[in-house]
Amino acid sequence: MRKKLLAGNWKMNKLNAELSDYFEQFTKALRLNETQVKNQVDTLFAVPYLLLEKSASIAQKFGISIAAQNVHWEKSGAFTGEVSISMLKELRVQTTLIGHSERRQYFGETDETVTKKVKACLENGMTPIVCVGERREEREQGKTSQVVSRQMQAFLEVISSPGSLIVAYEPVWAIGTGLSATSDQAQEVHALIRDILSKKFGKGTADTIRILYGGSASPKNVDDLFTKPDIDGCLVGGASLKPDEFAAMVLAGR
Ligand code: PGA
Repeated sequence: MRKKLLAGNWKMNKLNAELSDYFEQFTKALRLNETQVKNQVDTLFAVPYLLLEKSASIAQKFGISIAAQNVHWEKSGAFTGEVSISMLKELRVQTTLIGHSERRQYFGETDETVTKKVKACLENGMTPIVCVGERREEREQGKTSQVVSRQMQAFLEVISSPGSLIVAYEPVWAIGTGLSATSDQAQEVHALIRDILSKKFGKGTADTIRILYGGSASPKNVDDLFTKPDIDGCLVGGASLKPDEFAAMVLAGR
């Protein structure tokens, strides 16, 4: 059985000054004994770089993991504005999002850069949460499987073992729009992703890899999403900014 993972993606939101209040409200909203929740569901927050250190020191008390939202593939060098894997590891950050659609859309991230980043992460003990997903026009043209397969194959080609790989299926048209994919639409793509992973690593291994859904996931649709066999958690933007809403989603993952 794959343990559910509820991952918040704070994008470019919040300040260090807001963290104590947020985590206090979040853990209070979980109501239950934290260890009990921790045993049943994994919780993670992908926060802006400058919030990593303080969030990690608060969150670790509650068994919550902190992740980055991006990382560079080179070890060090002349890459102004970038952050390396060892810099993250120095802060004991072990996980990072890779290839979020906003990075692809606004910052020139491509299948090629995603591939370099995934390879660097897996070679250096960093868990990559690799984001894939089609744009609205691609879905309308019936190209969803083709796009998602291309994005998956690009990075799978250069890795021989999945290590700690996590995949997030995030249809671009559903992100931040309030227009979530239905659980059936999501399951269809999750099953495709699992099939691609099976062909690469074998079924036994593919069955251990978590595939998250992202795109207007909220307390309203999470129960329905979690009825599907290949949906192993959510990557949550907007709703993760509100401690009560995100806590409700974590509880739904139990
Ligand atoms: P959303 O964002 O939940 O606000 O749609 C999800 C994401 O971008 O990861």
